[in-house]
Amino acid sequence: MSKRTFYITTPIYYPSNKLHIGNSYTTVAADAMARFKRLTGYDVWFLTGTDEHGQKIERRAQEAGLPPREFVDGIVEWIKDLWEVLDISHDDFIRTSEDRHKTIVQAIFQKFYDQGDIYKGKYEGWYCTPCEAFWTERQAEGQKCPDCGRPVELVSEESYFFRMSKYTERLLEHIEQNPDFIQPTSRKHEMINNFLKPGLEDLCVSRTTFNWGIPVPFDEKHVIYVWLDALSNYITALGYLTQNPEKYDRYWPADVQLIGKDIVRFHTIYWPIFLMALGVPLPRQVFGHGWLLLEEGKMSKSKGNVIDPKVLAAEYGSDAIRYFLLREIPFGSDGVFTPEALIHRINFDLANDLGNLVSRTAVMVEKFFQGVLPAPGPEEGPDADLKALALEVPGAMEALMDKLLFSNALGELWKFISRTNKYIDETTPWILARDEADRARLATVLYNLSESIRFAAILLGPFMPRTPEKIFAQFGIPTDPALRGWESLKAFGASIPGSVVKTGEVLFPRRELPEEGPAGEGKASPEKKEAPAAKRDKAPVPCSGPAAGEGLVSIEDFARLDLRVAEILGAEKVAKADKLLKLILQVGDEERQVVAGIARHFQPEELKGRKILYVANLKPVKLKGVLSQGMILAASDEAGNMALTTVSADIPSGSRVK
Ligand code: MSP
Repeated sequence: MSKRTFYITTPIYYPSNKLHIGNSYTTVAADAMARFKRLTGYDVWFLTGTDEHGQKIERRAQEAGLPPREFVDGIVEWIKDLWEVLDISHDDFIRTSEDRHKTIVQAIFQKFYDQGDIYKGKYEGWYCTPCEAFWTERQAEGQKCPDCGRPVELVSEESYFFRMSKYTERLLEHIEQNPDFIQPTSRKHEMINNFLKPGLEDLCVSRTTFNWGIPVPFDEKHVIYVWLDALSNYITALGYLTQNPEKYDRYWPADVQLIGKDIVRFHTIYWPIFLMALGVPLPRQVFGHGWLLLEEGKMSKSKGNVIDPKVLAAEYGSDAIRYFLLREIPFGSDGVFTPEALIHRINFDLANDLGNLVSRTAVMVEKFFQGVLPAPGPEEGPDADLKALALEVPGAMEALMDKLLFSNALGELWKFISRTNKYIDETTPWILARDEADRARLATVLYNLSESIRFAAILLGPFMPRTPEKIFAQFGIPTDPALRGWESLKAFGASIPGSVVKTGEVLFPRRELPEEGPAGEGKASPEKKEAPAAKRDKAPVPCSGPAAGEGLVSIEDFARLDLRVAEILGAEKVAKADKLLKLILQVGDEERQVVAGIARHFQPEELKGRKILYVANLKPVKLKGVLSQGMILAASDEAGNMALTTVSADIPSGSRVK
């Protein structure tokens, strides 16, 4: 039986600047999806590339004093290298300057003209060069682009026009009959109400006032409008209208076209209409994801606050960056990138939850079984629960991935990782190890832990391709689908007793927050080499349960912490930081000021008078330029709920906690 196919695309990027972490977001998401589908057995085709023509690129090349081709070549190489750095597993990279693309775009244009969809006229109206978009007088109110807010230019030139209006009704019908075609739903309503219902104007599809584009085949003084040129890449790359259309026949229509929310109009109005005019089926789904923002808003070259993904990956590792992007931001919504949030994810999810689980288990197999995975013995207590969850997780993740809910899919995986950590606490292997009579039980526990880690490593692969390799190496799991494939997750127990298990490098060293928070002068812009200086710890601190001496702290270590009861005298928001509150605490006779990341969970008014637990002897740091002397303790769960640690009786502030 032939495999089911899955075709996924990203937008093709303008090689006008180096890409920033926001642009990389779509491609990382598409890659995770492509890898997940490959894992689950699909025949996947994953396309990305560069959108190289148009006025914007021509102008950028002029500014750089280079011919456009030379100008884009350098940036395209940089982009290709970025995808290597981020482990993007695309099957093809299309450049719109390639002949395989240009000749077919000309054929498409000719077809439209021949069938009467394109006619010659004169365009008089507004144009936004950064967005390469035409706007009417009404849309370009105040002579600003309604999408990006930048000034528009008045354009008056001979043009060819495409009869958009002819297809409006058909497109509306298609959108109604295919509820998944435009996702998320909010973007669908926006397209229907703001653009389709008011009626589409015919679209200008050629330009004559510059040269850098694909010539109109029958009128060489025109170049084809860059969006008609660019959108076609999704089918030209497959060999549409060529002698060799196998890929087109095999993969089109696309299953998912991922784009950012700013280019939804082009992909859900122009693109489907062009396809209808060609008599080609429409993609099954176009998904417009949200934006990755900085605390002060958009990332932009002109603001000088772009975050260079290569610098970030060199600092933190590409797996951690990929994990952060996919976990932190619900896919349809906007999300904020801060170094604190990244470091928080690295320290808690990756170093504590995942890294500790792997290292504790490997240490125990090494220590108690000389590094040889034992065969499981008798079953008991929590074993059944752990196994049941292991078998549920793959399906749960698959269902969420089919809805592009990356963060939720990772949430399911982390529930399993936490469950496995809890299993260590429940079974206390270090106590079993004391008594020879418990040896068979100890073997079961360590086998189940190793097998759970195998499950987790396989399921992590689409999101973080490097980490599973390290885990497989530590647990002696060979490159064999019976041990690394999707089918191997159908039953618990594929791990082979006798495999050699060894401790390896720490998967995710803990990171320290920069002294100066991200809003400090100069901002955490790694491109400016002002990224938080991350330091490496020797080993991660376990978040739950002792493990055979490894990662344990002594009572003396614990006593070094000065934990106190503190009363909150007042709280207020920290300017330009939506997560931070500044608290004034009474600690015995002293007043202390602490900046805490609790603003999303508590209103300043509700905190006054509460008595909480406080770490009094942490080194002071500045967050957002505000001094923080110590830390208050709070608990948070997987769903993001937070609770403050309070005291059960009214005990004076300053009382010691021990
Ligand atoms: N060339 C067009 C796409 C043509 S597709 C036929 C284009 N290129 S772009 O380089 O400007 O943007 C590429 C993608 O990056 C878009 O999907 C855009 O939404 C996305 N992003 C740009 N900045 C972003 C963030 N800050 N966050 C998330 N995505 C962002 O548009």
